[in-house]
Amino acid sequence: MKVLVIMGSPHKGNTYAAAKKIEESMRRRSAVEFDYLMLSEANLSPCRGCFVCFMKGEGFCPIEDDASLILQRLEDADGVIFASPVFGMNVTGLMKTFIDRFSYVFHRPRFFEKKALLLSTTGALGQKDVIKYLDMVARIWGFEVVTGAGLITPRVGGTRWFTPEQEDELDLAGKKFLEALRRKTRRSPSFMDVIVFHAQRCSFNILAEEAPLDHEYWKEHGWFDPGRRYYVDVRVNPLYNFIGLLAERVFRRRIERDRIKGWYKSTYSPKNT
Ligand SMILES: Cc1cc2nc3c(=O)[nH]c(=O)nc-3n(C[C@H](O)[C@H](O)[C@H](O)COP(=O)(O)O)c2cc1C
Repeated sequence: MKVLVIMGSPHKGNTYAAAKKIEESMRRRSAVEFDYLMLSEANLSPCRGCFVCFMKGEGFCPIEDDASLILQRLEDADGVIFASPVFGMNVTGLMKTFIDRFSYVFHRPRFFEKKALLLSTTGALGQKDVIKYLDMVARIWGFEVVTGAGLITPRVGGTRWFTPEQEDELDLAGKKFLEALRRKTRRSPSFMDVIVFHAQRCSFNILAEEAPLDHEYWKEHGWFDPGRRYYVDVRVNPLYNFIGLLAERVFRRRIERDRIKGWYKSTYSPKNT
């Protein structure tokens, strides 16, 4: 079993110490392999906003760095810990750069076989916002989010330590993560997961001309097939599905109306990038 930690802190501080506690909790219970991706040491440059990954494919990204190696590390993991301290009331710039660089995954989700754990530390505030943001990212990318731990750790420098309650929280997070990784099945999607599926399905179905790569990807995966309830075969609450189908009708009307106005018309050309 392999766990990849995406470490958004620029150093081995509170967030790293918290991730290590989760590692200890899991290792105490089972043989788990841990891989730490220290974003501060990774060769990953900020996104240039050229849209090439969306329109032509991620393989055509003009930035020559280690993005594809990082993608491989994500693909090799069974579980991923998204870890970021609160910097300026949100995730760190390192974590945001990482997310931006893999933004095409929001359109072409893929990590359905994997589970995620979310971790944040803060001096005082913002840990819930960070967890909420990472939760949205991981879910749309396809992960099953198992749990999140947001800790207030005003300690700076020296040995990092946690209160007994925080130790328990991290231990429990590790235990839950391990249990989820052992369970090969996937939990039924939440209401929001189902709505996101329908919203994207409707958009990428209609916008075949404007977003051809996304349209093809969705088509290949059979996600436009009538009766399809979610990205993967998993039990979907029938009420969520019903509301999702109603929502698709509303989205469709809006997208078609805006499309006539030329809102989605792309001026993208590889020459402009
Ligand atoms: C540049 C910077 C910005 C920060 N911004 C906030 C903030 O907005 N709110 C807050 O409560 N703590 C803030 N903090 C405190 C950190 O969130 C806290 O010390 C955290 O545990 C650091 O994690 P680390 O040791 O893993 O880097 C900030 C710290 C730094 C260095």
